[in-house]
Amino acid sequence: MAVERVLSGMRPTGSLHLGHYHGVLKNWVRLQHEHECLFFVADWHALTTHYDTPEVIEESVWEMVIDWLAAGVDPANATIFIQSRVPEHAELHTLLSMITPLSWLERVPTYKDQQERLSSKDLSTYGFLGYPLLQSADILIYKATQVPVGEDQIPHIEFTREIARRFNHIYGKEPGFEEKAEAAIRKLGNKRSALYEEMRNAYQETGDEEALMAARAMIEEQQGLSLGDKERLLGYLEGGGKIILIEPEYKLTPASKMPGLDGQKMSKSYNNTISLRESPDAVAKKIRTMPTDPARIRRTDPGDPAKCPVWQLHEVYSDDARKEWVQTGCKSAGIGCIECKQPVIDAVLEELKPIQERAAQYAEDPTLVKNVVAEGCERARKLARETMREVREAMGLNYS
Ligand code: TRP
Ligand code: SF4
Repeated sequence: MAVERVLSGMRPTGSLHLGHYHGVLKNWVRLQHEHECLFFVADWHALTTHYDTPEVIEESVWEMVIDWLAAGVDPANATIFIQSRVPEHAELHTLLSMITPLSWLERVPTYKDQQERLSSKDLSTYGFLGYPLLQSADILIYKATQVPVGEDQIPHIEFTREIARRFNHIYGKEPGFEEKAEAAIRKLGNKRSALYEEMRNAYQETGDEEALMAARAMIEEQQGLSLGDKERLLGYLEGGGKIILIEPEYKLTPASKMPGLDGQKMSKSYNNTISLRESPDAVAKKIRTMPTDPARIRRTDPGDPAKCPVWQLHEVYSDDARKEWVQTGCKSAGIGCIECKQPVIDAVLEELKPIQERAAQYAEDPTLVKNVVAEGCERARKLARETMREVREAMGLNYS
């Protein structure tokens, strides 16, 4: 489609660390320069699992927004908002629940997985079962076309596509659809109407996907079409009825190569993180006390970087020359582990410095952050209201 809209959310369940930075955040920062982007704090989603510790969520919301801003998410390029401040998400969730088969929710893999993983907590709640549908509402309400997520979230995006398709199928029908679509074609003007018909035929007769994409792009770019006509023209391309909700694509976030201090994936639950706002002393100490190749007991014992988590950090932070220095020095016992760790400490501190400087500015002046979020909520809400108007109308709820 001609115009991409990117949307993603994060649950506020604690402070962000270098794993988040090298995975999600750097990706967001890049995307904000390429597309229209909306990023939001999924506080309701956090409540589905942390319903008994709401204070954790409350604290994390602002801290998380500060971390985003510190990492370079720029309110001039991206809309930053909080889910619960756009209550339209909840309305769409309720309306979509009317057409959501229970079996679709029950077979989403995260449902049973998480229940088993967090077995100490009762997750046989209505809210938790509805988690993917709430996520669908988050996405569909903005007509997002691209959703950057980690691998574990792919089933949720696929579920969202099925919900959109079902919604359009049930509510996209209107009396006199064909006549209205034909009338809309005529509004395109001679040249474009002919082009539209040609591309529609190509798609419907031979399944020509490129013709479909080109036709969609043409309609998206067309000025002066009413929303209703736009939906009719999009729907008519494929037969059916109006396309009211857009099926999003997922955009797999490149996996973070940032290892934790013990060589496992960096994660709060492994207690092996360096948080974005950790003090330089604490960072240095954490790296200095990292485990190394267990075979290197004495300074004179040769080691093997392949068996050492510090080497994985060099893979993230060091250039070829320094990596060569590590390989040779470690295997020949030419360098000591403390020596080997120093350039990594320096690199991490250098990376964190501008992040922490920005964070300090925001932490010092909470109204700055509140304003960013207030503006973001306002912008998001405008888009959400627009979609809700169409959804209510399609579902016969616009009596007045
Ligand atoms: N479920 C996502 C996660 O745990 C967070 C999320 C909620 C989300 N709503 C979303 C992500 C909408 C993308 C789009 O990571
Ligand atoms: Fe690890 Fe470096 Fe020590 Fe080798 S020299 S064991 S790579 S810390």
